[in-house]
Amino acid sequence: MTALRSILITGASSGLGAGLARHLAAPGVRLALTGRDAARLEVTAEACRAKSAEVVTGLFDVADAEPIAAWILARDAEAPFDLAISAAGVSAGTSEAGAPEGHKLATLQVRTNLLGTMNVIEPLIAPMMARKAGQLVVVASTAALRGLPYSPGYSASKAGVRAYGEALRALLAPAGVAVTVVVPGFFDTPMTDRWKGPTPFMVSLDKMVRVIAKGIERRSSRVVYPRLLALGQVAADLMPAMFGDRIVRNFRFHIEPGS
Ligand SMILES: NC(=O)c1ccc[n+]([C@@H]2O[C@H](COP(=O)([O-])OP(=O)(O)OC[C@H]3O[C@@H](n4cnc5c(N)ncnc54)[C@H](OP(=O)(O)O)[C@@H]3O)[C@@H](O)[C@H]2O)c1
Repeated sequence: MTALRSILITGASSGLGAGLARHLAAPGVRLALTGRDAARLEVTAEACRAKSAEVVTGLFDVADAEPIAAWILARDAEAPFDLAISAAGVSAGTSEAGAPEGHKLATLQVRTNLLGTMNVIEPLIAPMMARKAGQLVVVASTAALRGLPYSPGYSASKAGVRAYGEALRALLAPAGVAVTVVVPGFFDTPMTDRWKGPTPFMVSLDKMVRVIAKGIERRSSRVVYPRLLALGQVAADLMPAMFGDRIVRNFRFHIEPGS
């Protein structure tokens, strides 16, 4: 009998997390899915059960470290995780009238995106190291490569996620634990529906799910897609600041309020 493949996915009630859950669902797979919205999380869970996966769900705010760590460790004790994907995230930015995002939204993004990722990944590091097996996946953004002027809190949170993942990969590889750092550009989800402005090289959710799933399957160090957008961001970062600033200011956008 083949062993059960055990997978944790946060942000499974919408967008990328839901898409990856559906993609990875199969007989012999146990999915531990988390989100905050019970009804939407259940839609994902049902779709995965329909593909014969075993599914357990948990409703958590990833910013609350202790409850989610306890739940993750309890699920790990039942079926040791082979793979953990931290996809939960929020975005905010300048208002339509041009007002800065403000302290509340800026820190919410860091708490959810950066500290939330750490809250989900940290509990699994010691168990995976002890097993000398496992794969951790963090989801940054091309905004991590060069700060976006109309979304400073998001850029800071994702730069942190990227640095955290890169550091962990170098640390954990000798212990037999793989870390994949995902650096996506725009893809079509409820998050991008609230983004009002240019979305260069935007791809469908399906396409992004397939690209990321392939990278995860290959245990890639990084999944950067679309590469041209990432290259543009890196180039803007490397050139003198006054030129880089001018380029990124051209992509003026605002983000409508929402979760
Ligand atoms: N869409 C893009 O173009 C894009 C580009 C680059 C990177 N990303 C990143 O990709 C990831 C997925 O984004 P998406 O586009 O799929 O967004 P989405 O459709 O808005 O989904 C976000 C998910 O994160 C969950 N979430 C948000 N805040 C949470 C919190 N405090 N605690 C627990 N769960 C929380 C949501 O749960 P509930 O709905 O249940 O609250 C939802 O499942 C995010 O990390 C995002 O930053 C997205």
